[in-house]
Amino acid sequence: MIGFIGGTGNQGRALAYRLAANGEKVILGSRTLEKAEKIVAQFTGGSEKASLSAGTNEEAAEQGEIVFITLPYKSMKTTLEPLKERLRGKIVVDVINPLTNNNTHKGMSASEELQLLLPKSRVVCAFKNVSSHLIGKVGEELDVDSIVCSDDEEAKQKVIELSEKIGIPSIDGGRLENALASELLTRLLLHLNKEKNAETGFKIQYYKV
Ligand SMILES: NC(=O)c1ccc[n+]([C@@H]2O[C@H](COP(=O)([O-])OP(=O)(O)OC[C@H]3O[C@@H](n4cnc5c(N)ncnc54)[C@H](OP(=O)(O)O)[C@@H]3O)[C@@H](O)[C@H]2O)c1
Repeated sequence: MIGFIGGTGNQGRALAYRLAANGEKVILGSRTLEKAEKIVAQFTGGSEKASLSAGTNEEAAEQGEIVFITLPYKSMKTTLEPLKERLRGKIVVDVINPLTNNNTHKGMSASEELQLLLPKSRVVCAFKNVSSHLIGKVGEELDVDSIVCSDDEEAKQKVIELSEKIGIPSIDGGRLENALASELLTRLLLHLNKEKNAETGFKIQYYKV
């Protein structure tokens, strides 16, 4: 089971729909069950294998073996502090980008802050550079990369496999300290979105030497 905390926003919903449409069992969490139920009811993934249920954030944390965090940065600590024990030992996929001027980095990524907040969880930074608009094209293989970073090698490889399975190419971005680069790249992409009036993403090119 894959849980979502803050699953009712654009990014959580897009990832949850894509995972469910690809055969994963997903519980989409919210502060209010009714809100989660509404988002789940709008899912039109269609396939027989699709399995998406609604719950509270607490239920998503409890039931998820892998738990995605798709909250705004400003609510990360207050929401997750009480869920610490439920998230113990689990892979926690951090999708948060600290973006506004009030949330400026203090030399540390949201992912590293999250790992400090949840020392017994296996935090993996992923999907920060892929827009909900693209992820929401559920049946399409994407042509952009998601940078995946973690200090837990096994957890990172699991998230890379999961990402590839749902049609989102991933690159192994190394240790969690590199998550800061990933978050700053998102800022760059958002700047370009505005400049070019388009959705942007990036693809790493590998050249033989
Ligand atoms: N949108 C994108 O394209 C995109 C791309 C990459 C990464 N991200 C990152 O993914 C995260 C989610 O993005 P989003 O656009 O989906 O965000 P969002 O809609 O602003 O928030 C997601 C959910 O978080 C919950 N939430 C909002 N304020 C809260 C608060 N004060 N306390 C507790 N829960 C609160 C809400 O769920 P309930 O009301 O149901 O509890 C909301 O639906 C962000 O950190 C963003 O930077 C987004």
